[in-house]
Amino acid sequence: MKKIIFVCLGNICRSPMAEMMMMELVSESNLSEVIGVESRATSTYEIGNPPHPGALSELKKQGVKIVEHHSKQINLFDFADADLIIGMDFQNIEDLKQMAPEQDIEKIHLAYESVNKNKVIEDPWYDHKFDRTYRQLKEVLPEWLKILEAK
Ligand code: 4NP
Repeated sequence: MKKIIFVCLGNICRSPMAEMMMMELVSESNLSEVIGVESRATSTYEIGNPPHPGALSELKKQGVKIVEHHSKQINLFDFADADLIIGMDFQNIEDLKQMAPEQDIEKIHLAYESVNKNKVIEDPWYDHKFDRTYRQLKEVLPEWLKILEAK
C-alpha cells in the first residue's frame, strides 16, 4: 500500500478537502486497494472536530463523496508510514520539517510543487472561499496521484 498524507494547520478545511478529492481520483482509477489517502493537522487547535461546514458543502456541490473525518495531528507513525506528505502552504512545510524525523523530511512537499508552481493553497478559514480551495486542489491532485503511482 502506498500512502499520501495531506496536511494543513487545522485539518478541518484544506487537507480534508484534499483527502476526499484524492480518494475520488483514486477510486475512479481503480486504485483504492493499493493507495491510501489520509489527512492531518500540524496544530492541535481542532483535534476531534469534523471538517468545516463550508468545506463539506463545497465538496457536496462538486459531487465529491464525503467520508467521516475528525481532525488529527500528524505524529511519528504518520511520518514513517507515508510515502508523500503534502503541505498546503509555506508555514505547513516549515512546521512539518521541524516535526519530522530526519529520514522522513524528503517526503514533505508543497502541494503546488506537483505542477511546478511556487504558490500556496490559500487558507479559506478567514474568507470562506471554499470554491477557491476546490479549484486550487483540482489543479494539483491529479499530478500527485501520478507521482505516487510512479513511486
Ligand atoms: P485549515 O484551516 O488549516 O485549512 O484546516 C484552518 C483551520 C483552523 C484554524 C486555521 C485554519 N484555526 O486557527 O483554528
